[in-house]
Amino acid sequence: MRALTFHGTRDVRVDTVPDPEIVNPRDAIIEITSTAICGSDLHLYDGVIPGVEKGDILGHEFMGRVVETGSGSTLRKGDRVVVPFTISCGGCFFCQLGQFSGCDNSNPVEKQDATEAQYGHALTGMFGYSHLTGGYPGGQAQYARVPFSDVGPIVVPEGVEDEQVLFLSDILPTGWMAAENAQIQPGDTVAVWGCGPVGLFAVQSAMLMGAGQVIAIDHHPHRLELARGLGAEVIDYTQTHVLEALMEMSGGIGPDAVIDAVGMESHGFAPDNMLDTLKQKILPGTDRGHVLRMALMAVRKGGRVSIPGVYGGMVDKFPMGALMQKGVQIRTGQTHVQRYTRDLLNRIMEGQIDTTFLISHRLSLEEAAEGYRNFSDNQNEWTKVVLKP
Ligand SMILES: NC(=O)c1ccc[n+]([C@@H]2O[C@H](COP(=O)([O-])OP(=O)(O)OC[C@H]3O[C@@H](n4cnc5c(N)ncnc54)[C@H](O)[C@@H]3O)[C@@H](O)[C@H]2O)c1
Ligand SMILES: [Zn+2]
Ligand SMILES: [Zn+2]
Repeated sequence: MRALTFHGTRDVRVDTVPDPEIVNPRDAIIEITSTAICGSDLHLYDGVIPGVEKGDILGHEFMGRVVETGSGSTLRKGDRVVVPFTISCGGCFFCQLGQFSGCDNSNPVEKQDATEAQYGHALTGMFGYSHLTGGYPGGQAQYARVPFSDVGPIVVPEGVEDEQVLFLSDILPTGWMAAENAQIQPGDTVAVWGCGPVGLFAVQSAMLMGAGQVIAIDHHPHRLELARGLGAEVIDYTQTHVLEALMEMSGGIGPDAVIDAVGMESHGFAPDNMLDTLKQKILPGTDRGHVLRMALMAVRKGGRVSIPGVYGGMVDKFPMGALMQKGVQIRTGQTHVQRYTRDLLNRIMEGQIDTTFLISHRLSLEEAAEGYRNFSDNQNEWTKVVLKP
């Protein structure tokens, strides 16, 4: 089959690779009809996540048709499914708690040492996201093997378009969980850093959860325009002093909740960000914590900080004092996708949520490398790339 594979920093190619096969009884093989490039893939592309090897198939946002099932799969050949990016067994301590992105059974034992030392516990398996999370071949391909196919994939009705439901695989639940983690109360002022797909879905979700005012921050005019289209007020951080503006817009109190939908590759020429950028180049494992610092400084006393943006290593100069002195709460995490898919599918079917406004480019799988380059370099216009294998 054809698949998008990693060859080195900013070097991905579409290669011919072996077809996936059923390995365990609970596996299913999916023929992929749509797959997307995620902001998280850019961290792999930029070489800031370790454990990616030459030839690894990337991609964790995908859907398609079931073409083969193991004896323990509950799927049927021909089912149309969206597959969560987190691989979860459904039966372990964490899965039973609904903490699917903490599953203890999906990262093979021989891969666990790498993350146990770094994080205290081994990470959960994920599709196409380095050998730290299992080294599973991803979904930017013609076919993929889906482990625990009786737990993760959600069957979608015929009749809905791929693009209406594809983002159930990751960014829609991620935006939703980001807003949920911000514990939004009716009327709240919520500030969201980053108007990429995750930030935009966080804006949309915050609105649905009753926020009174959502303020979206980025520097790409078109992305800010999309946020405005969802009802947010916007701040271009290259033109405005963000902390002062947020104080003013929240009546001198500060936002009740703040969401960091940027993560470890924050842009901009703020001195701390430039220093972090330099350190990240020479000292792998240093994340760029600029947005996190800003969010912690901006949030009101007793407010809530939600961090869907991905961090992988250490953040220097973390304002612990602001967190403690203001009595702030922080919630974060890889999304527990399986927890949200059914509810969000219903909301899509009822017309409450539209996800298609985000898609700027549709490419064939063969054009995937071009998709990566543009999603990374031309972020203003390239808001979301969907690949059609
Ligand atoms: N928690 C999860 O499970 C999960 C799932 C998916 C994605 N993510 C993460 O969420 C983050 C966003 O993903 P995305 O797909 O929207 O990515 P993206 O790269 O498309 O968007 C990031 C946006 O942040 C903006 N930005 C950069 N620096 C900024 C700054 N200093 N202030 C304000 N905005 C700034 C960029 O201009 C860009 O528009 C990434 O870190 C991604 O890895 C997390
Ligand atoms: Zn993703
Ligand atoms: Zn589990």
